[in-house]
Amino acid sequence: MTQTTNPLVFLEALHQEIQQTDYGQQPAELYDPISYIMNLGGKRMRPLLTLMAAYLFGDNWQKALKPAVAVEVFHNFTLMHDDIMDQAPLRRGQPTVHEKWNHNIAILSGDVMLVNAYELLLDVETPYLKKVLSRFNRTAAEVCEGQQLDMNFETRWDVTEAEYIEMIKLKTSVLLGFALEMGAIIAGADDENSQLLREGGIDIGLGFQLKDDLLDVYGDPAKFGKQVGGDIIANKKTFLLIEALQQASGPLKDELIGWLRATDFDKQEKVRAVTGIYDQLGIRQLTENRINDYFTRGFANFQQVVADPARKALLLDFTEQLIERES
Ligand code: IPE
Ligand code: IPE
Ligand code: MG
Ligand code: MG
Ligand code: MG
Repeated sequence: MTQTTNPLVFLEALHQEIQQTDYGQQPAELYDPISYIMNLGGKRMRPLLTLMAAYLFGDNWQKALKPAVAVEVFHNFTLMHDDIMDQAPLRRGQPTVHEKWNHNIAILSGDVMLVNAYELLLDVETPYLKKVLSRFNRTAAEVCEGQQLDMNFETRWDVTEAEYIEMIKLKTSVLLGFALEMGAIIAGADDENSQLLREGGIDIGLGFQLKDDLLDVYGDPAKFGKQVGGDIIANKKTFLLIEALQQASGPLKDELIGWLRATDFDKQEKVRAVTGIYDQLGIRQLTENRINDYFTRGFANFQQVVADPARKALLLDFTEQLIERES
């Protein structure tokens, strides 16, 4: 058991655990994509949140390591399937699994990753296991619900901001909330503290997905690791597009709707044109303001958690960095 104020200690332990995990071997077509995606890197934000949450309530954060990896494996499973659904060519700067192998492989490898996540969760101590599994099951179903709404919204024009927020809460935020809540539960936190962490995580998750939408348009391709403009090409109802549709009027609105209706277009030209419309409407600043609002709400919840201030500062510093992230 180590006391630490250095988040790198968590990251290193996590990487070791990810390396040591047996995801399966044969047939290679089923298991190679798992090692591939798990080793592409990524921020490891969700498992780090689990470890930091556990550390708030005791020194033995190591007992949250395998469950933390479970959350990361689950997250990577959702990415593997999300990339099929979004027809995404790039993930963390490398070809997506369905591009490097094929669709069927990405579907089945993803399926077995979900099983791997459950296997890792079995490491949770018996007194907490049922609660963790029940929270995880609800969260996993909600992620699927959010993903289905995301797909449904692609062909709708009248998606409201409230509907959008509900969609991203399901597809993205609840998993951050769960990652934190689980860390707290495993460390023996009481309900009040674990709920504060879950709710703070959900707010941070909303800000996080807004930032993801923003980077999809304004990210630096060299750092972002995903195809910039992918959301515009797919008519994703992102925060940016919903705000633009609400704010645009006259010829600018006609131009925007023209691009949304277009079936035969040059992808780069569409991305350039729609980005230009966002620029004219000041959508970037508006989105940044909302990101800050959600993070502030999340921090307020974290502040209320009853725990050692230095350990809380670790969590707050880490989450604060997510506001300025470039990938
Ligand atoms: C990407 O998640 C999917 C979203 C919910 C926006 P991350 O941005 O956490 O992806 P990695 O794991 O760091 O690559
Ligand atoms: C995906 O949202 C959220 C999940 C994977 C559940 P996005 O489709 O925006 O995520 P990225 O941008 O591909 O990472
Ligand atoms: Mg998606
Ligand atoms: Mg996607
Ligand atoms: Mg995205």
